[in-house]
Amino acid sequence: MSRRDRYVLFGHPVSHSWSPFIHGLFARQLGHEIDYQLRDVAPEAFRMAALEFFAGGGSGANITVPHKLAAAELANSLTPRAERAGAVNTLAFRGDDGLLGDNTDGAGLVADLRDNLGVSLKGSAILLLGAGGAVRGVLAPLLAERPSRVLIANRTVSRARDLAAAFSDLGPVTGGGLAEGGECAWDLVINATSAGLGGEPPALPPNAIRAGSVCYDMSYSRSNTPFQQWARSQGAKRSYQGWGMLVEQAAESYLLWRGVRPGTLPVREALATL
Ligand code: ATR
Repeated sequence: MSRRDRYVLFGHPVSHSWSPFIHGLFARQLGHEIDYQLRDVAPEAFRMAALEFFAGGGSGANITVPHKLAAAELANSLTPRAERAGAVNTLAFRGDDGLLGDNTDGAGLVADLRDNLGVSLKGSAILLLGAGGAVRGVLAPLLAERPSRVLIANRTVSRARDLAAAFSDLGPVTGGGLAEGGECAWDLVINATSAGLGGEPPALPPNAIRAGSVCYDMSYSRSNTPFQQWARSQGAKRSYQGWGMLVEQAAESYLLWRGVRPGTLPVREALATL
């Protein structure tokens, strides 16, 4: 197996990850042979582990929580979208040019919403819940779709305002508290908080949602997430979770590593029938 064929996911924890399964199906679909391993490393060990992996012939890495910021620091160069996000979820070995850092999360979200689910983003009013790394990673690609407005609503208001200010040159984005989510009924509500699967969804006013609102939870599980349950209880007819985003961001990573974007439909179908 050559340098071109060795990949890892760095995270802490990583044992729950679907990435080996997804990348394994991509490779099989394209007739490639790759080796994709999980590497659980503590934050203080990340830098050394990543350098050793690439020095030892590794060709690409995915990066998940809590290493995305450290990966951005490690990279020798960044794609514009990774630079904007200040976070890297994909590292690619580029020979003499060293390590290229990219962030494929936002492209994955947009591809799932727009291409897979047929949600129109252009001209739509979008409510983004949360103001952490997950939101930072997707803001630039979302704003590039030209929504009419984006409100970042967060439990800690100052984080939402700071984030909105940092991206306001890219489009009409403002920040506020969760209560401000009741300003209007949104076309699209995206849950990007880490409250995810751990019980209560973020406390939003009920008028944030109407029957035609599309609700999207960036977390994923085998059953409806608490956010999806809440959205449905408020009358939203369409609510989704982040499986499609997971597959699409992986396809973007694969493209960066190997120059070809795998088809995602068979993999999304395989995950749905597991
Ligand atoms: P990530 O990288 O996953 O975004 P993070 O940077 O720790 O993780 O951010 C977590 C986000 O989820 C934050 O917006 C956090 O709100 P605060 O900024 O107020 O901490 C939000 N969050 C976590 N638990 C939450 C809860 N129970 N209700 C509402 N928001 C929550």
